[in-house]
Amino acid sequence: MAHWVLWFVDIRTILVCAIAFLVISWWTRKPKNLPPGPWTWPILGSLPNLGISLYRSGLQPHQFMAKLTKHYGKVYSFYLGNQLLVILNSAESVREAFQNQYLADRPTAKIPEKLKMTKGQGVVMASGDHWREQRRFTLSTFRSFGVGKRSFQDQISVEVKALCQEFSSFKGESFDPRKLLSNAVSNIICSVVFGKRFEYSDTTFHELLHLLDKTVEDAGAGAAAIFIPIVRYLNMRSTADNVRYERAQRLWKFYRAIVDDHREQFDRVDLKDYIDVYLDEIEQVEGSERAFNINEHNMIATVAQLFAAGSETTVTTLRWALLYMMAYPNIQDKVQQEIDNVVGRNRLPNLSDKEQLPYTEATLMEIQRIASIVPLGVPHYAAEDTTLLGYTIPQNTIIMSNIWAIHHDPATWTDPEIFRPERFITGDKLVKQPDEYLPFSTGRRVCLGENLAKMELFLFFSQLLHHFTFKKPKDAQNLCLDGKIRATNSPSDFRTEAIVRD
Ligand code: HEM
Repeated sequence: MAHWVLWFVDIRTILVCAIAFLVISWWTRKPKNLPPGPWTWPILGSLPNLGISLYRSGLQPHQFMAKLTKHYGKVYSFYLGNQLLVILNSAESVREAFQNQYLADRPTAKIPEKLKMTKGQGVVMASGDHWREQRRFTLSTFRSFGVGKRSFQDQISVEVKALCQEFSSFKGESFDPRKLLSNAVSNIICSVVFGKRFEYSDTTFHELLHLLDKTVEDAGAGAAAIFIPIVRYLNMRSTADNVRYERAQRLWKFYRAIVDDHREQFDRVDLKDYIDVYLDEIEQVEGSERAFNINEHNMIATVAQLFAAGSETTVTTLRWALLYMMAYPNIQDKVQQEIDNVVGRNRLPNLSDKEQLPYTEATLMEIQRIASIVPLGVPHYAAEDTTLLGYTIPQNTIIMSNIWAIHHDPATWTDPEIFRPERFITGDKLVKQPDEYLPFSTGRRVCLGENLAKMELFLFFSQLLHHFTFKKPKDAQNLCLDGKIRATNSPSDFRTEAIVRD
């Protein structure tokens, strides 16, 4: 037997294997002083061990990554294939990392060119000067239209009013609020970007929302595959490439038609919306270096991303809000009592009431904390070698912030799984914002729509609860408060009864 084995595994085979092992180990050797992490295999990194443990745990990726802190601490690292990832599970590490100028890039999406809707990167996915230019331009244009300022609240209230009419039309019968919320919230971005709102019955609007919804769903299902080639090769995507391609084409056509329309009606002395201002800027930078960043491809990419980033997040938060109000009728009642006491029944709450409505605000904050709808943030990328809390972060590392872990850390939040708005209220009945509360992330790439989102959430939530009481339908099963990952941590589909209040 021993003779047979020796014949099969002769000395040359052993030598070749040993050399191959040494070369692969050298090739995939870890840089020194990385944050701690699990065992790394040559070529595959920690994919086999983490993949199996994740599968066995039955947990969502953010929950699984929170659990890994027990073994490796709040900042740890691992390889997926040859891609190094650093996971930040504490507010302190996220704050320090996201202030660092070398950790403000995004990883490049590793998907075939033909699946990209445009050649532009847009503000969410761009890096370096390219990103700085898009961000500066978008923020200043938003500011010039008053987006996120008090003067903008009338535009939001128009949408809440339209939404209330739709909810009322069910006359207390149960319905799924998702599509209607999506119409209302998307119309706010439409008014800023396209300069117009759509009627809920408009078929073009429906098609746009449907395409965006599917794109967001795909992004969520295959988020890791977008940035990490080995995950893509393992084919963990849910939707075939030809379907994605067809969707990207239809979205492109939609935006193209809107831009063409804007070009036809363009009037430099009357810039009505984001696209008008962008077209004006494109003309102004023509022939200069800035034309590399400010061009039509980037405009369309940014517009598409403003929709995706601005609608899905806000709609998902509002869906969680309705669900939690149904699940905790006593808290819903307390919010309504506060609104009634401060605002009365003859007018709707508005932003000038916000300071007098601490319980309402604290309830919204608790919804954002417990649901943590962007559980792993949006990935950052190391543009250069740098250090973080004494560790080395090599160039090309992907850095993820586990916002869910930060929002559910028992060291910060007593009984983190319990829904308790009071945790955001001081003894003086003022709203407090702990350092560990980061729904919009922090630092250089902090959510660009934070002010707008806060206004939207407050106005939608307070005005809806002023108008209706939300009840679990009598024939519905128990409410499910477990999230599932689309691009955001979303509730499962649910129905509600919107009962008009006296
Ligand atoms: C409840 C609502 C929202 C939540 C929870 C949310 C959360 C986030 C988070 C966690 C990030 C990642 C920041 C980072 O990379 O560190 C982000 C980025 C971003 N958000 Fe929001 N967001 C919301 C609403 C909005 C709205 C309404 C807009 C619309 C205009 C918007 C536009 C953006 C953009 C453009 C970025 C990318 C910023 C950049 O890369 O420089 N978001 N958001």
